[in-house]
Amino acid sequence: MDSETMIELCKRHTLYAWSQTGAVDPLPIARAEGVYLYTPDGQRILDFNSQLMSVNIGHAHPRVVEAIKRALDDYPIFVYPGTATEPRARLGALLAEITPPDINTFFFTLGGAEANENAIRMARLFTGRQKILSRYRSYHGGTNLTMQLTGDPRRWANEPGTPGIIRVMDPIPYNYSFGDTDAERTENHLRYLEELIAYEGPQTIAAMIVETVIGTNGILPPPEGWLLGLRRLLDRHGILLICDEVMCGFGRTGKMFGFEHYGVTPDLFSMAKGLTSSYLPLGAVGISDKIAAYFQDHMYWGGLTYNSHPLACAAAIAVIEVMQGEGMIENAARLQPVMRAEMARLAAIHPSVGDHRALGLFGIMELRRDAKGTPLAPYNGSHPAMNQLAKFFRAEGLFTFVRWNNFMCNPPLCITEEQLMEGFAIIDRGLQITDAAYEG
Ligand SMILES: Cc1ncc(COP(=O)(O)O)c(C=O)c1O
Repeated sequence: MDSETMIELCKRHTLYAWSQTGAVDPLPIARAEGVYLYTPDGQRILDFNSQLMSVNIGHAHPRVVEAIKRALDDYPIFVYPGTATEPRARLGALLAEITPPDINTFFFTLGGAEANENAIRMARLFTGRQKILSRYRSYHGGTNLTMQLTGDPRRWANEPGTPGIIRVMDPIPYNYSFGDTDAERTENHLRYLEELIAYEGPQTIAAMIVETVIGTNGILPPPEGWLLGLRRLLDRHGILLICDEVMCGFGRTGKMFGFEHYGVTPDLFSMAKGLTSSYLPLGAVGISDKIAAYFQDHMYWGGLTYNSHPLACAAAIAVIEVMQGEGMIENAARLQPVMRAEMARLAAIHPSVGDHRALGLFGIMELRRDAKGTPLAPYNGSHPAMNQLAKFFRAEGLFTFVRWNNFMCNPPLCITEEQLMEGFAIIDRGLQITDAAYEG
């Protein structure tokens, strides 16, 4: 199908997410391979965001494609969740191997939002408490409950939603500061949380959910010592820690899971995206032994038709084997300093570049309006130069997310140094647009 027909039919008959469908300008994609997407007209586009930060092993990996095809022959294509199948059995065992020692049980869903929904349900059933703490700089999914866990503006039009969610400030909020150093932020923020928990009544709080490394809200690793301090604070009050690893899990940060950077094991954690590298829809909740033991003789009041779908489980096994077998997590860790150096080089020559960060291949560059660091576009706002930058990237064959005052640098973990440089060369040229909007 040619690009024009594809776009016209998609816009006429399908609704686009998080958009006014009439205003979207969808990128027509005919195929994808490795770190590249191809339009029907043959334009090659470097995928600098792994689509939705999710195609972690890169596109159309032949071993995974082959494994999915083989699974169609070897396994039942669908059986109901009350059955046992080989892919379900093997994936559960494999996940137990790659997760911390006291996480050995998994509940499969279709994606990240459902994984978070089920993690919250487990926490409520296990503790007998109702309230959940979450943070403002967060996104946890597009379902009713996960929209309320979400702190960012995607929530606003979906309110009031379900009660019982208490949103709290982050150690690194948008503007307000808990301090200038990591030590100050950790200490002050944890003190704030301790007070907040006292006001809410600790005995009413089941869990706190955090993106271990905040994703769409700014690629923000927690300040030094914060996650461990949070773990201890919650433990003192019998509040469970749920880590949302949907975006930062599966090698994105240079380790298999984000929490491995901080010496913390959550009670429950959600995963999706990188679990199958999005080759098929699958999410999961990782459940610690104490909670899994509880559900051995207590009913779990939750389920989904596609729970433990054999094809998706088979895809996840192949993806994890490829990720480990081809050293992709090591590649993400190896390229972290390269990405950071390239960001710093661009910041030195482009006055509009403000903060920039990368943990593994989880990166972001922020654009500023002036030397004081005023964001080029405000929180939840836009600026003509940001819109022009997005157009430039697209015309030059670089796919990434451009939002508010930032753009993302999250390529597939199989990217080579040369391909990474190819992306930054386009960014380098594009930054002239935002430099022109810099007011000094
Ligand atoms: C951190 C995080 N949690 C949850 C989700 C929701 O996942 P899904 O879209 O698969 O439901 C996302 C999606 O972007 C995410 O980034």
